[in-house]
Amino acid sequence: MLADMSVDTVTEATSPATGPLTPIHTADTAPGWWRSAVIYQVYPRSFRDLNGDGVGDLAGITEELPQLAELGVDAVWLSPFYRSPQRDAGYDVSDYCDVDPIFGTLGDFDVMMAESHRLGLRVIVDLVPNHCSDQHAAFQAALAAPAGSPERDMFIFRDGAGEGGHEPPNNWQSHFGGPAWTRVAGPDGQPDQWYLHLFDSSQPDFNWDNPAVHAEFERVLRFWLDRGVSGFRVDVAHALVKAPGLPAWGGRADGSSTDGFPGHEAPMFGQPALHDIYRRWREVLDEYGPDRILCAEANVDPLPRLANWVRPDQMHQAFNFPYLHAGLDIHRLRTVVTDSLMALDAVGAPSTWVLSNHDVVRHASRFGYNGHGPRDGDGIGPFDPQPDVSLGRHRAAAASLFMLGLPGAAYLYQGEELGLPDGTDIPEHLRQDPTFARTGGERLGRDGCRVPLPWRAAEPHLGFGAGESPWLPFPASFAELARDLQAGSPSSHLSLYREILRQRRALDLGRGSLAWAENWCTSSSLAYVNGTTLVLMNLNHDPLELPAGQVLLRSASPDDARYLASGETAWIRLESGAPTD
Ligand code: GLC
Repeated sequence: MLADMSVDTVTEATSPATGPLTPIHTADTAPGWWRSAVIYQVYPRSFRDLNGDGVGDLAGITEELPQLAELGVDAVWLSPFYRSPQRDAGYDVSDYCDVDPIFGTLGDFDVMMAESHRLGLRVIVDLVPNHCSDQHAAFQAALAAPAGSPERDMFIFRDGAGEGGHEPPNNWQSHFGGPAWTRVAGPDGQPDQWYLHLFDSSQPDFNWDNPAVHAEFERVLRFWLDRGVSGFRVDVAHALVKAPGLPAWGGRADGSSTDGFPGHEAPMFGQPALHDIYRRWREVLDEYGPDRILCAEANVDPLPRLANWVRPDQMHQAFNFPYLHAGLDIHRLRTVVTDSLMALDAVGAPSTWVLSNHDVVRHASRFGYNGHGPRDGDGIGPFDPQPDVSLGRHRAAAASLFMLGLPGAAYLYQGEELGLPDGTDIPEHLRQDPTFARTGGERLGRDGCRVPLPWRAAEPHLGFGAGESPWLPFPASFAELARDLQAGSPSSHLSLYREILRQRRALDLGRGSLAWAENWCTSSSLAYVNGTTLVLMNLNHDPLELPAGQVLLRSASPDDARYLASGETAWIRLESGAPTD
């Protein structure tokens, strides 16, 4: 929790190894497994294909869960596996309380839950409350019903602007490109109203001003809580409520390319009424005991504003996207770590940390550029400048070792423990992200980070599945990165991750404290002390001479053990918290 002093105050200058310390955060003693957990994101389409159709499935997840237990994570978060036409890889849900046949059955889900619990792993599922699929029964009913009907009121239907209502009701743009409105034909076949979709046209937004929508999602929460899930990752949690009157707004729907329109002013984001929704959901979860959690995917700036979402009566956690976006910029990293811990401590919430997920270029690829890499969500194509894959993996290991020493919870994305890069040579006809089609190919989208996992180098399709080809092709480098090869090599990325998680647990770093170690904080290196561990990252071109102390872990094998080379991180044990030089 928040140290009782200003961040600018240097309080200890006793340590020659660390130099003066600037304390930011003291150890968190509040109960709650999630406060220090490592949560592993499983992207079911790409995890493991047991039924041989080229797409991953629940039985495949069950099959490989022991590998995740062995890796040392505390919980898995599953991206959507619900009934869905898969127009946005399952984030277009047509039935929230059933499993899509490509992934299996509810029976398969129950088997997977039982196996997770046997292995001591918790399971979090994805809740997609902002929008559903246009194939959802409620939307089909809305299409069949007239304007002004209760069926239409489940969604955001409006008359068009201009003569004959031919223009969209406002100027909002879809996150995936193009207008955020689509016109429907009325029950009589004539052009009728328009409906809002912040994402693809196949994903109509629910109307959260309607109590019936609230009731429906409470039912969904209970359905999965009754099946034993430990909580929900809440998709685009900042977007459910729209500003009254749907005022015009000039930015893109993700609030990112705003041209003078800061994301937090967007009328489709961060509306005050959201907090009451999450208060109610918290009550529902609390009925099931103190161990069920809500984690917001909320793109809300700045961090003190995000902290409002994780006040004690609302969500438990929110993804820390400012951390992800800080990349390897030393100044931004220090600022975001400090701001996160201070803002979240102030409301009694743990911070979270994340480097990769299914919506961004994997960090092993992002860090393979000197200078500007791809924009988040836009992907890397065969004709784009290519990342230096081995540099990227080298730096990714350093970034992960830095992140996993921080106090709080950490989210990992499947495959990052193997150091996987993005697929950058996916043929256009195989691309599935709606961003690609909706922008006429201008933005490639997120398929590159969604390529299936390589499990066993010698098996067909690298052990992802023995049947059809995987739904996205493997880059050539995946063969040598297969999990079975890495499992047998002590110097592999996988072995490093295992060891990081083992030591993180043994040292209880997730529950630890944080003070910046000023002697090591320069324009190209950054270091903090958590308990008795010094975490030091060197992004300089020159090697850094390590301080005295036992090196617990380093992100790369050293040429000279006394030095930390460029793009490396080390964990060093400080002698009883009062290090010597
Ligand atoms: C979230 C998901 C993303 C999805 C979008 C629409 O941002 O992470 O994958 O496309 O919401 O549901």
